[in-house]
Amino acid sequence: MKGKAIEILNDNWRDGFTVPSKNLYPYQWKWDSGFIAIGLAHFNMDRAKREINTLLNAQWENGFLPHIVFHTKSENYFPGPEFHRADLHPRASKKYKSTGMTQPPVTGFVLQEMYNIATDKKDIVEYIGKHIDKVYANHEYFYNHRDPFNEGLVYIYHNWESGTDNSPIWDDIWETMVSPSYNFERKDTSHVDPSQRPSLREYDHYLHIIDIAKKHKYDDGKIGEHSPFLVQDPLFNAILIKSNQSLIELYKLIGGYEEKVVQLGKWQEKSITAFNEKLFDEGLGAYVHYDLRNNRPLKFVSSSSFSALFAGIPDKDRAKRLVNTMTQRFGGKNTYLCASFDPTHERHDPKRYWRGPVWINLNWMLYRGFKAYNFDDLAEQIKQDSIELVEKYGFYEYFDPRRNEHLVNTDKGYGGSNFSWTAALYIDLIEN
Ligand code: GLC
Repeated sequence: MKGKAIEILNDNWRDGFTVPSKNLYPYQWKWDSGFIAIGLAHFNMDRAKREINTLLNAQWENGFLPHIVFHTKSENYFPGPEFHRADLHPRASKKYKSTGMTQPPVTGFVLQEMYNIATDKKDIVEYIGKHIDKVYANHEYFYNHRDPFNEGLVYIYHNWESGTDNSPIWDDIWETMVSPSYNFERKDTSHVDPSQRPSLREYDHYLHIIDIAKKHKYDDGKIGEHSPFLVQDPLFNAILIKSNQSLIELYKLIGGYEEKVVQLGKWQEKSITAFNEKLFDEGLGAYVHYDLRNNRPLKFVSSSSFSALFAGIPDKDRAKRLVNTMTQRFGGKNTYLCASFDPTHERHDPKRYWRGPVWINLNWMLYRGFKAYNFDDLAEQIKQDSIELVEKYGFYEYFDPRRNEHLVNTDKGYGGSNFSWTAALYIDLIEN
């Protein structure tokens, strides 16, 4: 299977970056790139470095890193660069077309993973030394432009920034919005069964938020004031915190970056405190999203609720509560860990995108998280479930969490096939 994973990554390589999935996602995606680089590092470090270089080359003058970089033209994707019009922002990259939204900031911890995997430590330290300041600038961008009340928690202004694009959590926000109906040609549903993708009405909301951001030329301050979608997402913030920590450790390793280490330490302390104070829901025993636009917590448990463990955010007692919550709601003999959304909730849908299925990138983070807190059995179960799903059903984008369902129907991998981060993280899971 490792051979097959490598084959997929070779096949999805486009001379400088890897597409997440051939037909469905024909460009470079920010957080995909990071997970992909971890897999590449195990068999082709040179290509892992190029993957990250290419992404960082598309950085804007203000430190922003876009969610999609449109390196090539493709008829297979909507909305493309002509819809996004990132060039409306005065400091957008002049060289690359991109979206004007971002994705979870994985690059910091990815550099550290690459360091850990590398056999030539001198070479990788030199590489990291050349690129780490760009990642730092990206974190600086988040703290300066995405935290209007200086809380230590950054906002996302679009569900596509979360990475968990179609989570049922966003339903509460769609209810507050009055979006026009767009007339456009969907491309995703020509590659994937519509029952596994978002609805048309949801796409109206997605496009409407982009139009609002465009009206304000992607100005962060204005988006903060006007976007109907403004959320402090635990997954996004946990990844930022994890990457802060990696940057601290990498800067110390390189040496001579005292000021940056101090600044990262300050962000870190503030973010961890705010995360624990604001995002933990006592009733649910889990971290939840906070709707900054409407000033309310969004009380749902999702795989994002556990990502805090990956970043070392909860104390021991809270970590134990997260274990209980996962076991009670997500566990059991009949399910694969970890469903992307609470299987006990009526909005759970085991087949549709982020509304229930298991995703390998989330599982990879949760495995690391539970392991770091010494919950070895749970960590091992998440790892084994991930490996089993891939080995039984293939390198899909997402999987049905129901074990019984897998028994009656063997076709349980959904979304894009030959999916790059599934292949990349599968390699990392079996190598570690
Ligand atoms: C989907 C996912 C997103 C991912 C992208 C490319 O939109 O929701 O997280 O980055 O596909 O794989």
